[in-house]
Amino acid sequence: MRKPVSFSGIQPSGVLHIGNYLGAITQWVESQNKHQNIFCVVDLHAITVPQNPKILKEKIYEIAAIYLAAGIDPKESIIFVQSQVPAHSELAWILNTISKMGELSRMTQFKDKTNKIKKESIPAGLFTYPTLMAADILLYNANLVPVGEDQKQHVELTRVLAQRFNHRFGKTFVVPEPVIRTSGARIMGLDNPEDKMSKSAASPANYIALTDKPEVIRKKIMRAVTDSGTKIKFDKKRKGLYNLLTIYKLFSGKTEAQIEKRFKGKGYSDFKKELADLIIKKLAPVQKKITHYMKNKKLLDRILADGAKRAEKIANPTLKEVKQKIGLIV
Ligand code: TYM
Repeated sequence: MRKPVSFSGIQPSGVLHIGNYLGAITQWVESQNKHQNIFCVVDLHAITVPQNPKILKEKIYEIAAIYLAAGIDPKESIIFVQSQVPAHSELAWILNTISKMGELSRMTQFKDKTNKIKKESIPAGLFTYPTLMAADILLYNANLVPVGEDQKQHVELTRVLAQRFNHRFGKTFVVPEPVIRTSGARIMGLDNPEDKMSKSAASPANYIALTDKPEVIRKKIMRAVTDSGTKIKFDKKRKGLYNLLTIYKLFSGKTEAQIEKRFKGKGYSDFKKELADLIIKKLAPVQKKITHYMKNKKLLDRILADGAKRAEKIANPTLKEVKQKIGLIV
């Protein structure tokens, strides 16, 4: 039987942090054998906000290196860069023609990203960002989209667009399902557990970057905001501690009961020390591999070129069918 197709992507912008790693990448790695996986470096999404061209190029390589370093096997999964498969931009344009201003305006990520920008200065690309994301997913007839909580609304819009297109032009797209893990779908900021850990956070104290050095990781964890309680318990109301415990749980693979038992009678400081050691230990091999791939861009180029070729084999026939259905000459 055909394996379900799973598609996901990460923007090569800002700093990749343990929220992206635990919320998205680790679940991709875990599902590698069960799905036909397609992982994209979504560079065209990254340029919806200003990027330094030199840094952008490095970041594109870095996301590819992180996918590989985290354990995604490029022989089993397709790893590629969005802009290297032109079908994404073409389908995004076509989907723009069936998307509505109202539904795009309701996207919370759009609202968050633009609430400090004057209306007349908002880049149009930020507004139509979700239709490009829908194109990413629909080109591959993906059944599943494993993402963190913040992307759920975009996947829901993708479903709406797929259904609208199918209704108007006849069954064309698979309607995808978001896959969101029960624990870790929303890792919170270390400096402010009310808000998610974010790539574009103003202060580096907000996140642990995948490339942070051990002493930096230790400092950030020890300074992470917690309450003034004493007991180490998974209590959603104690947001800072709950977030740190969730990070511990995901990195250690232990259950909540096991973790609470381990830290019974111990204080926040002991727990934080152990958490820092655990993160450092778990990230060390990934960091070593990231450095290895970043020193070997020729290898990355080869893997990405092969990925783009395999991606096009799936994406181009979908685009052709779409063009035929809407009455274009193909
Ligand atoms: P991006 O690049 O912002 O984030 C990449 C992935 O990391 C997840 N994530 C988090 N998970 C848990 N806790 C957090 N604090 C946290 N922050 C981020 C995100 O949910 C995401 O899964 N629009 C997407 C990229 C994209 C995409 C796609 C994803 C473009 N096309 C098609 C899936 C399918 C984005 O900006 O993710």
